[in-house]
Amino acid sequence: MPDAPKPVTTHDLLQMKEQGKRIVVLTCYDALFARLLDGAGVDILLVGDSVNQVLAGAETTLSATLEQMVYHTKIVRRGTQRAMVVCDMPFLTYQVSPADAIRNCGRVLAETGCHGVKLEGGRPIADTVRALVDVGIPVMGHLGLTPQSVHALGGYRVQGRDERTADRLKDDARALEQAGAFAIVLELIPGPLASQITKSLTIPTIGIGAGPACDGQVLVLHDMLGLNDRFSAKFVKRYAALSEEVREAVQLYAAEVREGRYPGPEHSFATFLKRAKRTVVDAGYEVQTLRIATQPVLEGAGPRARADALPSLHALDRAVAAENVLLSIGPVLAPDDYDAEFGAWAAEFIRTTRNTSFSARVASPERGASPRGVTAAGEAMAAIARATPGGIGNFRFAAAANVPAGTPFFPVAYHRGSDAVALGLESPPLLSAAFAGANTLAEAKQSLTQLLETRLGALERLVRQVARHDERTYLGIDVSPAPGKDASIGAAIEALTGVPFGDYSTLAGCAAITDVLKSLRVKTCGYSGLMLPVLEDPVLARRASEGRYSVRDLLLYSTVCGTGLDVVPLPGDTAADRLAALIADVAALSAKLRKPLSARLFPVPGKAAGERARFDDPYLTDCVVMKAE
Ligand code: KIV
Repeated sequence: MPDAPKPVTTHDLLQMKEQGKRIVVLTCYDALFARLLDGAGVDILLVGDSVNQVLAGAETTLSATLEQMVYHTKIVRRGTQRAMVVCDMPFLTYQVSPADAIRNCGRVLAETGCHGVKLEGGRPIADTVRALVDVGIPVMGHLGLTPQSVHALGGYRVQGRDERTADRLKDDARALEQAGAFAIVLELIPGPLASQITKSLTIPTIGIGAGPACDGQVLVLHDMLGLNDRFSAKFVKRYAALSEEVREAVQLYAAEVREGRYPGPEHSFATFLKRAKRTVVDAGYEVQTLRIATQPVLEGAGPRARADALPSLHALDRAVAAENVLLSIGPVLAPDDYDAEFGAWAAEFIRTTRNTSFSARVASPERGASPRGVTAAGEAMAAIARATPGGIGNFRFAAAANVPAGTPFFPVAYHRGSDAVALGLESPPLLSAAFAGANTLAEAKQSLTQLLETRLGALERLVRQVARHDERTYLGIDVSPAPGKDASIGAAIEALTGVPFGDYSTLAGCAAITDVLKSLRVKTCGYSGLMLPVLEDPVLARRASEGRYSVRDLLLYSTVCGTGLDVVPLPGDTAADRLAALIADVAALSAKLRKPLSARLFPVPGKAAGERARFDDPYLTDCVVMKAE
């Protein structure tokens, strides 16, 4: 990352005058423009009380309030790294008494983080300037046409035209310099007078309508951008014609909305997915779901930020649900983070959304297994189980151990980098087909390799084309054979081993399939291993119901498989710390074996071990609840 730029100081301004370097000043009223102007190298951002006219639509600056100036200065400061930010003190906040001025200017400095204040007036306010400087508040003066005195001056007109007023201005400037001001704005005075004043001072002058001899120039930003089409003055140069551009853009937008031309298909987030789906379906494949994984937008967010994000996440969830798309926002806690409110937030989030998944990190490459993340995940699972009928909400939450970005497995998926595309497969029937005629384990592995490489190669070419067309990175295929109600991975494993799932040699069968998946000659991503989601697979569910394998066996299979513990039905009264203990084992395996794993545990409220849990759900199959021994 580039170093943060060195901020401009009052000392730098004095040096610039000495070295004959011109000082660039613009008014600024908000963070967005502040970021642009700061990035463009403007030296001073003046939060002028002209904001009252330019943005708030008032006739004069006289009704600007301290609150208004504090607000605008604060947001300008937010967008600034290098420029000095100066707040214009509004009418009657500094003229009444020096004590009053110290209180108000001090408040501005303390609350906004700005670097100085600007006051209008000369000798009559010199004592106030001195008092401010003495308490450490940098002051910029303002002479000539001082808009807060517009009525006393008889309108917005050039000042210092005659000798008497010119002499008074010179004296005012001297008084401000002696009182300790660090610079003086000279507004609307004749160029030769501005030149004399500039030469007579050691502090810089900043001109506006005061000729070219000043040490710097200031303009009202909205005037020089041609945004404020209500104001024109001879001294203003319009560097752009933004008001015309805004008008034309808005007219075009209005016409397109009225004619139904905006939004077009290219403005919908689902357009790419739908086009990709059409291509794949036209080639003869079935597409089950369309999914989007975002950047981990809430990673590291504290309880407050998480709670504040809920309305936006609800909107996002509604948007994807309307397009029949599933969404995963990735890990919500930073590695090894914990806070006591996470469980309740997780339950509320799942209860109030339909299509969105998220995860909690329980191990990471930098920190290994994360005890605090494990506790948080256990509490979240327990809270989600209590908050959703049948505990079904835990389908959309998992503890993620060492899961990298770009893993398309939900609910742990998240993304980093530019737009990309990846593919997941419901392929267990291919495995069963490959194992059908094989006589030995070696033959089965060879047959599976050939079949998958042929089938996946064709699919890969298709999706690469789609990705190229949309300038997306092609991440690859997660070749993990995801099961469904009519596509059982349990059945495929039994076809390979010849024994019911859970019997001896199941581990060997799992290892053999994982070997093949890991060595395929296609671009793979994500887990690309074997997954054993108990509640999604009728054979796995049946064998669990028959008591042929336990949660410990699933942990054992995780050592040679892909995903870890997936949709494992547990008793509804399994306490958060028991869930955390099991998640801790998955995190430890992941850290020890240096591979991504996840734990999606499924406490079923009201059900004890051995009782049948029934789900009225397209993805979940009925199953007997396993023991959380
Ligand atoms: O309020 C303001 O914008 C100003 C500048 C014009 C100097 O005082």
